Amino acid sequence: MPRFDDQYYQRFYGLVGVHDHEQIGHLATAVHEMCAWWGVPPSSVLDVGAGVGMWRDWYRAQHPRVKVRSVDISEHACAKWGHELRDIATWKPSKKFDLVICHGVLHYLDEPAALSAIANLGAATRNVLYLELPTAHDLAEVVDPELTDMDVHHRSGEWYRSRLNVHFQQAGAGLWVRHGTVPLYELESAQP
Ligand SMILES: C[S@@+](CC[C@H](N)C(=O)[O-])C[C@H]1O[C@@H](n2cnc3c(N)ncnc32)[C@H](O)[C@@H]1O
Repeated sequence: MPRFDDQYYQRFYGLVGVHDHEQIGHLATAVHEMCAWWGVPPSSVLDVGAGVGMWRDWYRAQHPRVKVRSVDISEHACAKWGHELRDIATWKPSKKFDLVICHGVLHYLDEPAALSAIANLGAATRNVLYLELPTAHDLAEVVDPELTDMDVHHRSGEWYRSRLNVHFQQAGAGLWVRHGTVPLYELESAQP
């Protein structure tokens, strides 16, 4: 049985899911507006591991002129929610996107796949990456194990940060700014 099947989405995105459309609406508004504040309002967006497609749906409803491409490794998700079938560990888009979303994905990839995926996310991002995933610390201390898929790779924040730093400066709140694009003030960033 493929891992990301109907049962998986029912379990984590059913009535009591990890997040819903309303919550993604708040998050997507904040991310989009932070990009605008930084002077790089997105006109193209790539959603990697789009799942039930909440980010894509929000963009279609709120910013219909923004070009959104959504991809996922799950045949089920692609057929049901209309994404392109892609594995971010092996696929690098031929052009960059102003904003790349990778929400709740990288912790499913083993180490070699996660390394390639980070390189591909770096290559895909023109300005800003929004990245969310639970680290080993989060899985032990922060998440609700009843609501969260615990059968994932438990890696440290430092593991991710050191690899992401090759391409990005961490702004905070999941936002990573590609080097050489947005000049952040010293205290606006999580890292100097
Ligand atoms: C926890 S869900 C997150 C869905 C969506 N991003 C959200 O936050 O609502 C993880 C998604 O990542 C997808 N995924 C896992 N590995 C992937 C890969 N290597 N490339 C692309 N998508 C992947 C899964 O199929 C699944 O839809």
